[in-house]
Amino acid sequence: MPKTLLTHHRPQWRTHIGFILAAIGSAVGLGNIWRFPYLCYKNGGGAFLIPYFTALLVVGLPLMILEISLGHKMRGSAPAAFADISPHWEWLGWWQVIFVMFGIVLYYSVVIAWCLNYFYFSFNLSWGHNPNHFFFHQFLAVSKGPFDWGNIRPQILFSLGIIWFLNWLIVFLGVEKGLERANKIFMPLLFILTGFLVFWSLRLPGAREGLEVYLRPDFDKLKQVGVWLDAFSQIFFTLSLGFGIMIAYASYLPRRSQILKDATSISLVNCFFSIFAGLGVFAILGYMSYQSHQPIDKVVTQAVGLAFVSYPQAISLLPAFASLFGVVFFGILVIAGLSSSISIMEAFTSAVIDKFNYRRRSVVSVLAVSGFLGSIIFATQAGLLLLDIVDHFLTQYGLVLAGLLEALVVGWFWGAEKLRSHINSAAQASLPSFWDWTIKAIIPFTLGILFINALIKEFSAPYGQYPPLTLILVGRDWLLFTLFFAVVIAARRWANKE
Ligand code: ALA
Repeated sequence: MPKTLLTHHRPQWRTHIGFILAAIGSAVGLGNIWRFPYLCYKNGGGAFLIPYFTALLVVGLPLMILEISLGHKMRGSAPAAFADISPHWEWLGWWQVIFVMFGIVLYYSVVIAWCLNYFYFSFNLSWGHNPNHFFFHQFLAVSKGPFDWGNIRPQILFSLGIIWFLNWLIVFLGVEKGLERANKIFMPLLFILTGFLVFWSLRLPGAREGLEVYLRPDFDKLKQVGVWLDAFSQIFFTLSLGFGIMIAYASYLPRRSQILKDATSISLVNCFFSIFAGLGVFAILGYMSYQSHQPIDKVVTQAVGLAFVSYPQAISLLPAFASLFGVVFFGILVIAGLSSSISIMEAFTSAVIDKFNYRRRSVVSVLAVSGFLGSIIFATQAGLLLLDIVDHFLTQYGLVLAGLLEALVVGWFWGAEKLRSHINSAAQASLPSFWDWTIKAIIPFTLGILFINALIKEFSAPYGQYPPLTLILVGRDWLLFTLFFAVVIAARRWANKE
């Protein structure tokens, strides 16, 4: 039984700020820098902040409080925490850490690897005059379909090796010497570099027009359901909720902890970072539109295109220090990505250590090698297409379903009020009883609607115009396999059983 975890030594954060920085490091990731600004632009500019902050208040913050307090109360990883609620729910914890470790992080690390490649490319602006052709045809050499794998791209493989080596090294060194220390370097560096880049971009001609396009409110857009769906799913991904990460991270906190304050600061810093980074992204797009005499909607592309096509194009237009600008921008992406990928690895590692009592160093080494090997599929010529499908299924269905079940299990099977009194007694806080109903009803209801809408959309038109069979084999089955493994592992005995 997981309760016996109390009998074995559990690592702890050395400092409170160490925990905060690690949790912010997990939240702030690739999603904040390229996805948020684009979503904001597409969904009504400044007006998008209304659904975005609504999603933060209605789902994001209450779930962040839930995950941190659950990990803190149970002093265990996600599977241990859910097994403590009831052995019947252990699989939910395993499912979270498995589909994130053997799904999301496999392609997430490949995108960090691309950023590392672009970091080198920035030194001599290797993308030349046509960054679009360079990215899709020279660098990725994208194949015709998701099953047409072609070759492994050597440059990507090389960077991928470096990323997995760093993932391995940091998590191998443990909570205090690895994760805490790395984030104490990564986070200040990330904030300084982002600040530098944003202020640089804001001084460029055309920046003002860029910002107007980014933030000009179009309240009419708020009538569209899709805009609200985008806001809710972005909040989920950006706060790393449903990943099992915050549960594991909070299990390393000391008994007396300010859970409420911590959850609020982590969530707010993450969301304001997104808005701030967006200022830089749109200022430079404004500059590009000014230089190329094109309207800004012609120079903006979505997610992947924004970072690897529009941005390089804008960088090439800079009159001075273009390489430095590129190096800083892609450096920021690598740091933000790494601090998130190590947190995913830690969530799985702590689960395996809790259950099987294996040594951290062996678990992390096996995990890093399998992670690297598993990622290689996304470093093939079909990588971009596979990544697109897997990401769609894991984030739209996996994360949302995991969050929904998490709220139901804690709210109804265990009792949100128990967790609330734990939070209040851990730091003499006063979380209002309204929180219980948010967990029991508002979150399941909201996520339920999100889930049903996603399903309706799925059946009305195949995602990304891929053949339906491909979507089933790659996307749906990936999710089902992880669920199968979760159930199998949950059925095994706990090594620490009394
Ligand atoms: N929360 C991380 C991101 O936004 C996973 O990229």
